[in-house]
Amino acid sequence: MSINLAIDGPAGAGKSTIAKKLAKELGFVYVDTGAMYRSMGLYFLRKGVDGKDEAAIKAGCPEIQVSIQYENNEQQVLLNGENVSGLIRTEEVGKMASTISAYGFVRDTLTELQRNLAKTQNVIMDGRDIGTCILPNADVKIYLTASVECRATRRYKELLGRGVEANYDEIAADIAKRDEQDMNREVAPLKQAEDAVLVDSSDMNIDEVVEAIRKIYQEKCQ
Ligand code: DC
Repeated sequence: MSINLAIDGPAGAGKSTIAKKLAKELGFVYVDTGAMYRSMGLYFLRKGVDGKDEAAIKAGCPEIQVSIQYENNEQQVLLNGENVSGLIRTEEVGKMASTISAYGFVRDTLTELQRNLAKTQNVIMDGRDIGTCILPNADVKIYLTASVECRATRRYKELLGRGVEANYDEIAADIAKRDEQDMNREVAPLKQAEDAVLVDSSDMNIDEVVEAIRKIYQEKCQ
């Protein structure tokens, strides 16, 4: 039986950084489900479809094939066979992913892929509904969060560090809007699963969070 560790939480809480690091240490496969929604978002952005146009999004879903492969242990996401991993990290794609992920038919196109990845290998899977919907029997469930101010400050510093111009207030407003969208949709909203452990990383650095989650994993699984 494979071991499944689910990490859910809002945008900017550090899920992917933490999950990647811990997966490497434990020898697990890291599965980034946000990248799958982002690749679907990219598809519709390229087509010029409005994310709020439910009928157009529904009509486009059967045209989309999302798959995953690994290169040097790094997840690559393929959109109809094209590796789009380098194209999906923009704010525009993130917003589109958040908008279209509210539709049940969009989520249905990815559910099986996500569950299959967890069936046969030890995974750390991150997203919004992993502990609540995708892997309800996951061995360990973590709800990783941090205050809006803290997430916005981290993002602001990261952008400045890369020499990218940034506006703190705009970043904080975008994060709050994304929280609102992801937490209040009808289908598979972001929320803490009843049996998930809450980790608030507001006052913790990356290593401290990795250590805290590793401890929770060890207590439950070893
Ligand atoms: O984690 P991320 O920022 O890459 O995700 C982008 C969007 O995709 C997020 O705002 C909501 C959606 N998403 C989702 O609905 N369910 C998931 N399991 C992962 C992401």
